[in-house]
Amino acid sequence: MKIIIVDNYLGVGAKGAEIVAGEINKNKKLVLGLATGETMIPFYRSLIKMAKSKKINIKGIKTFNLDEYAGFGKDNKDSYYHFMDKNFFSKVGIPAENVNFLNGKNKNLNLECKNYEKMIKKFGGIDLQVLGIGRDGHIGFNEPGSKFNSKTRMVLLSKLTRKDNSRFFGHKLERVPKKSLTMGISTIMSARKILLLASGANKAEIIHRALHGEVNAKVPASFLQRHKNVIVILDKDAGSELD
Ligand code: GLP
Repeated sequence: MKIIIVDNYLGVGAKGAEIVAGEINKNKKLVLGLATGETMIPFYRSLIKMAKSKKINIKGIKTFNLDEYAGFGKDNKDSYYHFMDKNFFSKVGIPAENVNFLNGKNKNLNLECKNYEKMIKKFGGIDLQVLGIGRDGHIGFNEPGSKFNSKTRMVLLSKLTRKDNSRFFGHKLERVPKKSLTMGISTIMSARKILLLASGANKAEIIHRALHGEVNAKVPASFLQRHKNVIVILDKDAGSELD
């Protein structure tokens, strides 16, 4: 694992975007796995700036987002699709047919998950997967207990995750869905390259456990230690418990 420490929250996004831009410039048809969350906002802002100043051409890339709340579709203002559209897709004019998203409103969620795996394969697999991390060590929505060989599927969200994510739901825990669809650990591990971004002191402990702790399902992000091409970008606070 290559670990890069930058000064602050904004720097994490800027450095992440610089790496992704380099990959897009090497491969105009990059298959890019994307993530949501507060950590990602400066990352998308930096990419938007680069697209607007023509430093990168986003038009040919394909995107696959990691996860979506069960029961939520594109029209739901609290959906991850809506987050992505607001913070990235609509700002860079990426063609709709190049954007792939789990539809939490599909009546058959198992089929939705199976088809997502098929689509990823059809496009030749994910070249670069961007990840954040939850305070319980989740990546995507792979909560503690997620198996190494797990694929895209429906999962139950942990109490901590629902509490943390309630800030996106007006701090009303009862509004946070209990279930979600997520790419699995093995889906993520199949990406050719992985970029993990984290910032803030509240991520320091889990970053230490994920990067230097035992590899097991108690901390799903620890599985990344088994991937041969991972770059981790942290701010000083998130990296403060690393030796
Ligand atoms: C959500 C997402 C994760 C993300 C995590 C961290 O739970 N499903 O993919 O990594 O939030 O989010 P934040 O950056 O807001 O701390």
